[in-house]
Amino acid sequence: MKTAVYHLDPGKPAAELVQEKAIQEAAAILQRGGLVAFPTETVYGLGADATNPRAVAGIFLAKGRPADNPLIVHIATWEDFLALAAEVPPQAADLAELFWPGPLTMVVRRSPKIPDAVTAGLETVGIRMPAHPVALAMLRVAGVPVAAPSANRSGSPSPTRGEDVLVDLDGRIDLLLDAGPTGVGLESTVLDLTTPVPTILRPGGVTREELGRVLPQVQLDPGLTGQEKPRSPGMKYRHYAPRAELLLVEGDNVEALARRVKELARQKKQAGLRVGIMATAETLPLYQELEEEGILLRVVGERKDLRTVAARLFALLREMDRLQCHTILAEAVPEKGIGLAIMNRLRKAAGGKVVHA
Ligand code: TXA
Ligand code: MG
Repeated sequence: MKTAVYHLDPGKPAAELVQEKAIQEAAAILQRGGLVAFPTETVYGLGADATNPRAVAGIFLAKGRPADNPLIVHIATWEDFLALAAEVPPQAADLAELFWPGPLTMVVRRSPKIPDAVTAGLETVGIRMPAHPVALAMLRVAGVPVAAPSANRSGSPSPTRGEDVLVDLDGRIDLLLDAGPTGVGLESTVLDLTTPVPTILRPGGVTREELGRVLPQVQLDPGLTGQEKPRSPGMKYRHYAPRAELLLVEGDNVEALARRVKELARQKKQAGLRVGIMATAETLPLYQELEEEGILLRVVGERKDLRTVAARLFALLREMDRLQCHTILAEAVPEKGIGLAIMNRLRKAAGGKVVHA
């Protein structure tokens, strides 16, 4: 299969984008059961018509995704949500008002319109309204709900740039809508509204603190803290992972943490490995001398604004793979705000390789 690529201006409003040939074509492909990769404000998604089980099966095939991992359904209007939820939880309207369009997925009981292929047989479905104008324009013209996981081969870091989608899926999908880098950089927050207390199944772009503005109570799925089996099927796999080994260095004191990173980097280097450090703007000066020793240094973002770390994390993991690093050293960040989602992804990518400073 040949993958067509269209470049779109992310600055144009959805109302103008709907006129463009690229959007019309993407919509036509979705309507006839094909696969379209498209930008959202979080990461690129790989979309298919959510009401067409054969189209949805194509997503699993293209990604190499385990069949027991359900997909998020993307919509453009609140009416779409009402049509796809069998029951509308009491908090849903307020959450939508505040966070949609945006990086929040609400898990609700599914209507019979959603086939088993989307939910992996679960009686619930995750639904979200993305904030990217290209995604909204495509959804409007297609006129169908679009099931879409992140547009990577299963297990790899999610793509935050069109190039990254092509590295994983060129030749496996019909079309890519490339609108440059996404904004948030990490996936949406998955919030289960079918539990007595709303439960965060996956931390993401909308923070726990922000949810607290609408929800008197919100809990983290015990699976996230490693106490129990995660209830979001996707959270049980090694995930978001580069090919390189990733070591996550934790510690409350940033300087001690950086010293440990430095020590480990030198050890690995001496063992003959190619080593990359994901520094932060604040710790970079502490590592500078390592560059002359042949250790790769990159800044992922600023500790004083963790949104910058979220935005670049996946792209940097992919870059370190391209540069053929054997080992990547990553610094832990405080688990506040978006830091909770960053640490969740880093822990997954590390697959248990966590070191204490
Ligand atoms: O930001 C995002 O959410 C991106 C963009 C493309 O929208 N999508 C995304 O999809 O990250 P995916 O498939 O890579 O991750 C979906 C996550 C998985 O962990 C999955 O298990 C969980 O959501 N999920 C989906 N439906 C669910 C359900 N009914 N119950 C529990 N977890 C669900
Ligand atoms: Mg994914």
